[in-house]
Amino acid sequence: MGAYKEPHGGELTELYLDEAAAAEERKRARDLASWDLTPRQVCDLELLLNGGFSPLTGFLEQADYEGVLKDMRLASGVLWPMPVTLDVSEEFAAEVAQGDEIALRDQEGVLIATMKVASRWAPDKESEALQVFGTTDELHPAVDYLMNKAGPVYLGGPLRGVEAPTHYDFRHLRDTPREMRDRFRKLGWRKVAAFQTRNPMHRAHQELTFRAARDVEANLLIHPVVGMTKPGDVDHYTRVRCYEHVLGQYPDQTTSLSLLPLAMRMGGPREALWHAIIRKNYGCTHFIVGRDHAGPGKDSQGNDFYGPYDAQTLFREHERELGISMVPFRLMVYAENRAQYMPLDETSDQDNVLNISGTELRRRLQEGLEIPDWFSFPEVVAELRRTHPPRHRQGFTVFMTGLSGSGKSTIANALMVKLLEAGGRPVTLLDGDIVRKNLSSELGFSKEHRDLNILRIGYVASEITKNGGIAICAPIAPYARTRREVRQSIEPLGGFVEVHVATPLEVCEERDRKGLYAKARAGIIKEFTGISDPYEEPEAPEIRIDTQEMTPDLAAHRILVVLESLGFLR
Ligand code: PPS
Repeated sequence: MGAYKEPHGGELTELYLDEAAAAEERKRARDLASWDLTPRQVCDLELLLNGGFSPLTGFLEQADYEGVLKDMRLASGVLWPMPVTLDVSEEFAAEVAQGDEIALRDQEGVLIATMKVASRWAPDKESEALQVFGTTDELHPAVDYLMNKAGPVYLGGPLRGVEAPTHYDFRHLRDTPREMRDRFRKLGWRKVAAFQTRNPMHRAHQELTFRAARDVEANLLIHPVVGMTKPGDVDHYTRVRCYEHVLGQYPDQTTSLSLLPLAMRMGGPREALWHAIIRKNYGCTHFIVGRDHAGPGKDSQGNDFYGPYDAQTLFREHERELGISMVPFRLMVYAENRAQYMPLDETSDQDNVLNISGTELRRRLQEGLEIPDWFSFPEVVAELRRTHPPRHRQGFTVFMTGLSGSGKSTIANALMVKLLEAGGRPVTLLDGDIVRKNLSSELGFSKEHRDLNILRIGYVASEITKNGGIAICAPIAPYARTRREVRQSIEPLGGFVEVHVATPLEVCEERDRKGLYAKARAGIIKEFTGISDPYEEPEAPEIRIDTQEMTPDLAAHRILVVLESLGFLR
């Protein structure tokens, strides 16, 4: 058993041309229609070319695609659970005919491969979502991708690999299936259990992977995904530094670490089979599957998309045919009275069982609270603290919105001075007028131009926030959708506090400091917000301020209090 497993479908399908042929292909590709790959497509292509997706020889053609959707089988009959398709725009699809060759380039324009378009079709996306993911709920990340990001036309056909996508990070930890297989052979590892993960590993993971491998007398491969995981996950740079620390916890020569450039779909049971097939291609004999494998979280009704053991059940059904064995694992908990980890189902009423959930861990990091030694390794906690500083050391954006003359600039200035007085972080003021002079001087006041202006402000604020500074923005920002877009781009990077300066139109018009309202009424200024152009009031800003009731000083003070209560200021 287990003498260096065959790849899925019998052969490792490595699709790279040799050096001379690749040079020829680069010349030929100059005349071909060229598609700029999305980040997800780059991930898929890398695993297609290096044999990680054996037996696929290209992006799926229509007959294979339909089989995969319907009963997880390629036209050849081989088991394959996940559609790997090249989605493109209507315009690009119109440029190419069946039988044409196309060039596939990364985002810098580097030629990765060429593809012969054997098949071109417009998929029924709803039916794809239902068949593959069992839902059309767009809270499922892969359904959201399919419905809102993927292009409307699919192209499929065989690939000729020119050059592997470039990675500048952790090169010593990246292996192709062939390199991995060679390493196992060199080490004499005949049985290898792979552990898939998209999260940092703590003591419970170390315990369970060690036990899982020991139970089947196999060596262990920690095989984390560093391509694309669930939005909001800990970035892979941090995770890999954590894995390197955890690696030192296993007995010498038992365990290896390698990074997998996979773009996950969070597809639960089907994804578990897919993961196993990939690990089989990398030369592993066993695959560890836990509770809710590759689960996408909760749907819009608050229910789990998949049952906790659906992945294990589906794996069992296909285990023989897959040719890689499942090592199911049980939930590990810490029994304080025994000072050790053990499977939850082996504990008794006498045991004092401890556990820290992901949500609780994030809270403790956010607030700079203690993370106990029984839970994780000190080096891992230190890495996480470095990239997840407590809120009072994170950057944030205060985004003010309101009519012209509502008092945004005055409050923004007062707030800036108070923050500078407190010290600690650099502060940048992105006032409407300053921005229009330095960043958006060519823009007018059409909806399109206003949106562009706000998105630029949002981009600058997001960079400031990401780097630990404070951005105070004070444009009119009349459109709710655009404000939401800015919020979504900043929230993952630090704080975002929306302040509606809600001074009523009549008051702004009566003050008319710049004389603009009079001009707007007279029709001299067109598209004037509140007079001849819309202002959509924020529905749920963090703070609402009416300058009739409050001085600028008091308004700035109120914002400080809210920032304090959220933990961004001490
Ligand atoms: S927006 O909608 O957010 O892009 O506007 P913003 O960049 O904040 O620019 C608003 C300032 O430009 C002056 N101004 C106008 N405002 C609204 N509508 C029209 N048509 C217009 N034309 C010029 C005005 O002085 C605004 O400044 P504030 O400080 O808000 O009074």
